[in-house]
Amino acid sequence: MLSGVKPTGKPHIANYFGAMKQFVDLQNEYQSYVFIADLHALTSLQNAKEMSANILNVATDYLAIGLDPKKTIIYKQSDAPQVAELAWIFECITTMPYLMRAHAFKDAEAKNKEINVGVYNYPMLMAADILIHDPDVVPVGLDQKQHVEITRDTAEKFNRIFGETFKVPEPLIFENVQTIIGTDGRKMSKSYKNTIELFASDDKIKKAVMSIATDSKGVDEAKDTEKDNVFTLHKLFTEGPEFEELKDRYESGGIGYKESKEILIKNIIKYVSPLREKRKKFEDDPDSVIEILKEGGKKAREQAEEKMEEVRAKIGTKLS
Ligand code: TRP
Repeated sequence: MLSGVKPTGKPHIANYFGAMKQFVDLQNEYQSYVFIADLHALTSLQNAKEMSANILNVATDYLAIGLDPKKTIIYKQSDAPQVAELAWIFECITTMPYLMRAHAFKDAEAKNKEINVGVYNYPMLMAADILIHDPDVVPVGLDQKQHVEITRDTAEKFNRIFGETFKVPEPLIFENVQTIIGTDGRKMSKSYKNTIELFASDDKIKKAVMSIATDSKGVDEAKDTEKDNVFTLHKLFTEGPEFEELKDRYESGGIGYKESKEILIKNIIKYVSPLREKRKKFEDDPDSVIEILKEGGKKAREQAEEKMEEVRAKIGTKLS
C-alpha cells in the first residue's frame, strides 16, 4: 500500500481515527509506503522555514502514533525527484479538459482566479507518486477519491499507448473520517475551529471537551446516544464494561452531560498520554527523525529510479 500526507498543521482526533491510525493498522497487512507530500504542499505553502518545520512535525506525528520504519518506508516525496519526471510524462498524455474536471481544481478556480499551474497539475504528480511504486491499494479519505480515479485512468492510458507498464491500483476509502463530530456538532474540521488536537495538553483536552455542545436534557432524562456529541466521542475512547454502563445510563436516564464529559476527558487523556510521550521522545531527538526520513528516501528513490528506467525505455528516450 502507498499513501501520502500533506505537511500541514497539528493533527486532531478526526485526522487520527479517520486516516493516520489506519496506516498504522495497515502496515501489518501490507508492505507499506507512507510519504510526506512536500512538493504537493508547495502549491500553497511557500515559506522555507514553515515547510521544513511542517515536514519534521508530520514525520514526528506519524512516528509517535506507531508508524514503524521497519514495516513502512517513510519518506518525503522530494527525496525521489523521479516523480516530477514521471508527472511530466503523464502531463503529455493527458488533455486539458480532462484535468479541468477535477473537483480540487474547480473549487480552487471558483475561489481564486489566479491559481498556479501546480494546482492544476496536482493530480498528475499524485498519479506519479502512486504509480512509480506499483502499489495494489491506496488508502485515502473520500476527498481524494477522484485523484485515485485519475491515477487509474492515467495508468490505463499510459499502458494503452506504450504497453503494459503500471499496475492499476485500488482506492481504499476511509469512510469514517466524514463522521467524526467536532465540539460544535458539525464534522470535525480545522476550518470550523471545532477540533480536539491529538497531542493536546490535559488542560486543552478539558477545555475542548467541556465546550462540546449538548442539548439541555437534565440528569434523569433519557438521552439519545446517536445524537449526543459527547457520546459519539465515547465510541472512540471509552471501552468495555465502562462503555456498556454508560450506554445504559444514557438510555435509561441517570447521567448528566457534565459527568459524561468528565469520563470522556479521563479516557481521552488515558488514550493519548502514551502517544504524547512517544512524540516528546522524537521531538527531543529530531536528528533521529531526519535519519529515518533519509533512509526511507533512499529506498524510495532507488525503487523509483528502477521503475523510471523501465518507463524511459517504454517511451523511447533510453537508448540502450
Ligand atoms: N493529495 C493528498 C492529500 O491532499 C496527498 C497525496 C499526495 C497523496 N500524493 C498522494 C495521497 C498519493 C495518496 C497517494 O491528502
